[in-house]
Amino acid sequence: MLSQNHLHVSLLYIVLLTGTKYGCGGGGCGACTVMVSKYDQLNNRVLHYTVNACLQPICTLHGAAVVTVEGIGSTKTKLHPVQERIAKAHGSQCGFCTPGMVMSMYTLLRNKPHPTMEDIREALGGNLCRCTGYRPIIDGFKTFCDVSNAFNLFPQISEELFHMDNVLPLDPSQDLIFPPELMIMGKKRACGSLCFQGDRLKLISPVDLTNLLELKTEYPEAPVVVGNTTIGPNMQVKGVHHPLTIYAGRLFVIYLLCVYVHAGVSMGAVCTLSSLKDEMERAVREMEAERTRGYQALLQTLRCLAGKQIRNMATIGGNILSANPKYDLNSVLAALDCTLQVMSKENGTRAITLNEELFTGFGKTALRPDEVLLSIDIPYSKPWEFVSAFRQAQRREFAFSIVNAGMKVLFREGTNIVESLNIYYGGVGPTLVKVGRTCQKLVGRSWGEELLADACRLLEEEVELSDSAHGGKVEYRKTLTTSFFFKFYMQVLQDETSNLTLVFVCLFLLQLVSNAQSSQDPVGHPMMHQAAFHQATGEAQYYDDIPAVQGELFVYMVTSTRAHAKIINIDPSEALGMTGVVTFLSAGDVPGQNRRMLFNNPEELFAEEEVSCVGQIIGAVVAESREQARRAAQMVKVTYQDLLPVFFTIEEAIQHQSFFDPKRKLERGDVGKAFETVDQILEDEIYLGGQEHFYMETQGLIAVPKGENGELELFVASQHSAYTQEVVGITLGIDSNKITCHVRRLGGAFGGKVMKIASLSAITATAAVKTGRPVRCVLERGDDMLITSGRHPFLGKYKVGYNNDGTIMAADITYYSNGGCTLNESLIMEKALLHMDNGYKIPNLRGRGLVCKTYLPSYTAFRGFGGPQGLMVMESVLHEVAVKCGLPPQKVREINMYREEECYTHHKQLFSPRDMLRCWDECLDKAGYHDRLQAIQQFNTSNRWKKRGISAVPMKFGVGFSKGFFNQGAALVNIYKDGSVLVAHGGTEMGQGINTKALQIASRILKVPMSSIHIKETCTGNVPNAAPSAASFGTDAVGMAVKDACEKLMRRLKPFMENHPKYTWQQWVINKHPPGYKKVNIMMGPHTDMDWENSEGPAYYYFTFGACCSEVEIDCLTGDHKNLRTDIVMDVGRSLNPALDIGQIEGGFVQGIGLYTIEELQFSLEGVLMTRGPSQYKIPALCDVPPQFLRIHFLSGEPPVFLASTIFFAIKEAVAAARRERGLGDSFPLSSPATAERIRMACEDQFTEMAPSPKKGTFKPWSINI
Ligand SMILES: Cc1cc2nc3c(=O)[nH]c(=O)nc-3n(C[C@H](O)[C@H](O)[C@H](O)COP(=O)(O)OP(=O)(O)OC[C@H]3O[C@@H](n4cnc5c(N)ncnc54)[C@H](O)[C@@H]3O)c2cc1C
Ligand code: FES
Ligand code: FES
Repeated sequence: MLSQNHLHVSLLYIVLLTGTKYGCGGGGCGACTVMVSKYDQLNNRVLHYTVNACLQPICTLHGAAVVTVEGIGSTKTKLHPVQERIAKAHGSQCGFCTPGMVMSMYTLLRNKPHPTMEDIREALGGNLCRCTGYRPIIDGFKTFCDVSNAFNLFPQISEELFHMDNVLPLDPSQDLIFPPELMIMGKKRACGSLCFQGDRLKLISPVDLTNLLELKTEYPEAPVVVGNTTIGPNMQVKGVHHPLTIYAGRLFVIYLLCVYVHAGVSMGAVCTLSSLKDEMERAVREMEAERTRGYQALLQTLRCLAGKQIRNMATIGGNILSANPKYDLNSVLAALDCTLQVMSKENGTRAITLNEELFTGFGKTALRPDEVLLSIDIPYSKPWEFVSAFRQAQRREFAFSIVNAGMKVLFREGTNIVESLNIYYGGVGPTLVKVGRTCQKLVGRSWGEELLADACRLLEEEVELSDSAHGGKVEYRKTLTTSFFFKFYMQVLQDETSNLTLVFVCLFLLQLVSNAQSSQDPVGHPMMHQAAFHQATGEAQYYDDIPAVQGELFVYMVTSTRAHAKIINIDPSEALGMTGVVTFLSAGDVPGQNRRMLFNNPEELFAEEEVSCVGQIIGAVVAESREQARRAAQMVKVTYQDLLPVFFTIEEAIQHQSFFDPKRKLERGDVGKAFETVDQILEDEIYLGGQEHFYMETQGLIAVPKGENGELELFVASQHSAYTQEVVGITLGIDSNKITCHVRRLGGAFGGKVMKIASLSAITATAAVKTGRPVRCVLERGDDMLITSGRHPFLGKYKVGYNNDGTIMAADITYYSNGGCTLNESLIMEKALLHMDNGYKIPNLRGRGLVCKTYLPSYTAFRGFGGPQGLMVMESVLHEVAVKCGLPPQKVREINMYREEECYTHHKQLFSPRDMLRCWDECLDKAGYHDRLQAIQQFNTSNRWKKRGISAVPMKFGVGFSKGFFNQGAALVNIYKDGSVLVAHGGTEMGQGINTKALQIASRILKVPMSSIHIKETCTGNVPNAAPSAASFGTDAVGMAVKDACEKLMRRLKPFMENHPKYTWQQWVINKHPPGYKKVNIMMGPHTDMDWENSEGPAYYYFTFGACCSEVEIDCLTGDHKNLRTDIVMDVGRSLNPALDIGQIEGGFVQGIGLYTIEELQFSLEGVLMTRGPSQYKIPALCDVPPQFLRIHFLSGEPPVFLASTIFFAIKEAVAAARRERGLGDSFPLSSPATAERIRMACEDQFTEMAPSPKKGTFKPWSINI
């Protein structure tokens, strides 16, 4: 008997293998990648391919071998070279994505020991990493390429950051063999049909076609499952229930790959998309180009469709019959006039044309319920036939398309007269759309300008998309339909093909460690992350890897479905009656206080009387298993009475004057007076969308009651364990000394695991106390996104006074942030205000900060802490002034920069801008800014539909907390009798390498090798009252505390050491001092505090400086953009560990790319977050990383997020170039993120004019901008 979960490979959790990570459950992140090997009877060979374990039903693996990361190497035996190289190349930070990356690369090498860069790009396309920015992962893996096909680049990188000497060679002869018993089994004929029965699910795997057809006749409602990539996410994530599924993957009849017949290729319905791609590539390679134009078009689509793991699982039949217009194949296959062969027991075989008539509704086809699909016939192209496929998605690859299209034209032989035309679109309605009228009217016409104009007009008439259409982006989608046709028109004229390349050029100018430094001193060297090997082998434990404790229960949150309502009644009776359910918790069950406080602002743990956002926790179900708790939570009935007002957006909050206190203001000079004397005044605004943390490991914990004196232990994913401890104590009404929080490591955090995790901990602890049993809480990805929220959206409204030469004399900026329903961490507004001047000396400057109270989950801290928003608004001011003055933006930036040796910020903090100016000059110089600007201008003149832009910004960023008491670190150093050293500190290891740096520091001061020093975990029992690891200050504070503690120990040892200079370290510590001598130290940073009344104060410990320059290319017809090159120069003194610091810069920068260009949160009109998982919410993938990076000096942490705004401004430059050509002004609004939709719609042209925006208030939009 298997439960729903047990039908999946996540069964691995139960056998205590921790390497296969669970990041989303929907195939969207790659953290769960494993390798499956199967014997292929047809070709007598063993196939190795990656799959997403979260979607792979275990019952479908009969006869297959599964290799997880544990199977290929271990720190206890021997690492596999893939594991070693990703670790040594610093490609593992938090490590949560690492096993998945390793398995993708391992599988590639099993199939191709000498891969090309393109192979690596393809293999890793389905693996997301939120920490590294991908470059170090690629660095490690491209060492497996032949030098000739790795572009000869890696020596430059690896020699600086990691050494190839002493790495294990790849030896395919050492690979795991395919189990002989499986081989024997595979060679035999399949024994019979298999049936797997779970408590709620049944899966039957028929042995042959007859058996399948019988089953389909008997159970017409049961879906035929093969790859499970449509059915799986529907069941796992959307909660769709199919009591019976029929697995058809074992059937060779429809598994038969590719049969070349007279008119084309016949593909078995059960062929995976990977095999389809291979076959199409083979056909293109081996056949004359003219016959394979259709296949080339199909390949264009297949290269960007999903990630490798999904393509290895997903089948062509499943893609077609899922009848999802966002899936890409149907539009191309229909354009190619493909035919489906279907069969039923009753009626035998019949052929159906794949066209719009096949699809009767979303997810519905005209196949009869008892029919199955056998194969798809894809015809060869005819002479004089041209085919193209198009898709545009939120992210270039591994993302569902917003609109896709397949187009085919056949010309009368030797002419340009259209004989026949097929145009199909997906994504412009609930089903596949054929624009038949348009096609008909164009038949017989010449392929020329007139046809183009008529085609666009006809398309505009025929493609119907209501203003309220599902999915929104209506004008954009309409524009894409005509823009795609225009592209097709041009491609036919030019017969052009596209290509994809990936070249990572990463040049670092590293600081050199002084020759005088001891060779044993690790400080300043690019040391590998201390836990990298364990992370790469899957041995590193995260909270959810801790084996189930005896009697463990699971808690699942019940959340509000209304944005603002009174709770009339909560009825858990149905849930309580369900199998496995132990109890239900709500506000009344909290023994202490039902709230947590931050800076005197309360937030309820369980909503008591009212809810003020969708996603607010109302109660929690505790059950014996995850699934039981999850299912039961859905059965808790909450009765609401809706309340008014309800609003979500910043604009609405302004109308309602709904703001939190305190309202902050900073001012210098006399702004009002300055406006009277300036040449020009400009008033404008910029909107910046929010951002989801999307750490790969979702939030959660295990609470274990100790049974004595009310003691409780928490194993928790918290960035601020002291706060968690405090909140749990207040909730339970017990002292902090009875609660111990353990944090070993976090799978990413970025500021998101400070606050809400404390509430989750308090609720889980309440459940543990109430039941007297250990309780585990693990948020599903969708719930995590719904409940915990992310970075604040901002609106910056500004009035700026400037002179015609570009000098800004006055600026008055009001920042509005969307704070959500409680204040939570909305004081990040202070950081926005404190950073508003960036590097510019604006003599009269006023900033006001208003946090809007809306009916959304409360926003929280995110890397940069308001800085990226505050800085971005000021850079927009500079950009717009430059546009108005007709000057290059970089000139206006230079004119306004702080220049004197001693400058004061607008909050009267003294600093010197010298390093900023140096970074700026060096950055422009190294980037070749001026030469490239010219080249870009030339490129733009000669390319009508592609434009390039370049932009550079300087940066001044305050490090540390403006609240001085947070700027402290704490450490405990134990030296044991055997000479080994144990360091404990108050920081949290979440990928940034804080432990590695602490080890380096301890090693330097104690003069013992790092291998003799150990860091176990962060524990409130060892180091109390620690500050959060955040604000780029964790390592500074902790590092100094470790240094201080070690120095104190050394001072005590010194006399004895001097008396016995020949003794070893162990003899010194044994002989002189009591064993286990310890020293606790609290290290206070310098005083920082702001006087907000008087707009003055040393808000930061120090400033870091930098500059960045980026170049992009946009496609004016689709809005797609490519990041071409980025140069960053940072100068913050000496790096403790250049490899880790580079990793932090790159990771931060790539998160910034997401913030400013890709990541878009969509809310329904009712305030429900709709983008709740990697399928809807896109973080940067490998394809988004600029192929060229150049960096010079380093700092670590948060500031680089803002530097990615250069990409935003470069996009703005490129759009401006397009607009200038069309005689439009280069001053135009562009909100952040600059998504493909926004770029396209800003490049106004004849196509966008055909899709005008409807008047506000005349329709119900699908989503709102919050
Ligand atoms: C993370 C992710 C990203 C994706 N990205 C993209 C993308 O960018 N573009 C894109 O086009 N698609 C994308 N997909 C969708 C994917 O291509 C489809 O889910 C897949 O092709 C479906 O095939 P399957 O074998 O997994 O179908 P299953 O889930 O096994 O079945 C799907 C449906 O097809 C029916 N079916 C399948 N085979 C037969 C048969 N032989 N006879 C009768 N009925 C049958 C089933 O009954 C079921 O209704 C993505 C999916 C995921 C999970
Ligand atoms: S957990 Fe399987 S892909 Fe995300
Ligand atoms: S190291 Fe990749 S997600 Fe953290």
